[in-house]
Amino acid sequence: MTSDARAPLTVDEATAEVTYALRGAVLRPNGGEITWAGDEDPATFHLAARTADGAVVGVVRFSPAPCPWRSAAAPWQLRGMATDATVRGTGAGRALVVDGLARVADRGGDLVWCDARVAAAGFYERMGFTVVTEEFDKPGIGPHVGMVTNLSGQYT
Ligand SMILES: CC(C)(COP(=O)(O)OP(=O)(O)OC[C@H]1O[C@@H](n2cnc3c(N)ncnc32)[C@H](O)[C@@H]1OP(=O)(O)O)[C@@H](O)C(=O)NCCC(=O)NCCS
Repeated sequence: MTSDARAPLTVDEATAEVTYALRGAVLRPNGGEITWAGDEDPATFHLAARTADGAVVGVVRFSPAPCPWRSAAAPWQLRGMATDATVRGTGAGRALVVDGLARVADRGGDLVWCDARVAAAGFYERMGFTVVTEEFDKPGIGPHVGMVTNLSGQYT
């Protein structure tokens, strides 16, 4: 299936399985697990961005999880963020994060955190996240930083 980077995108909830192909191609190109603990938890939700022809060009997962660096009443983790190289820079990543943060807020979440690849930290900053850790390494993946965004103004 081909995709047209100029076509309007839609973002909606998807099964975990829908996200695996892009996770593998973008996040684990050299191999490694593409199914993760929590993928099938009832509280977890996955989003897929699709072109008009139905091609999945972006994916992300949100799940309730304690934040390693900040206290919060209802923290959520963003994980598995990936967009197809053919659409990067056209708003797919933004659409997924904006939609996901709204859905987390609707579910009562007050903070969203992620382990951000250093190369993607600027993207998350554009989405309202702040770097809150030193750089750390994830073996086989590379340097990361911890980032958070506050949905309620209440975390300390
Ligand atoms: C990071 C990634 C998800 C961004 O997706 P995208 O579809 O290109 O994002 P968008 O087009 O919606 O970009 C939104 C904004 O962020 C900016 N941006 C995108 N990627 C960026 C980056 N790596 N660094 C700094 N800014 C970035 C865009 O220029 C745009 O800016 P704007 O506010 O002026 O419009 C995508 O590049 C990707 O999948 N990268 C490889 C996998 C990866 O690193 N995932 C994150 C794992 S933690």
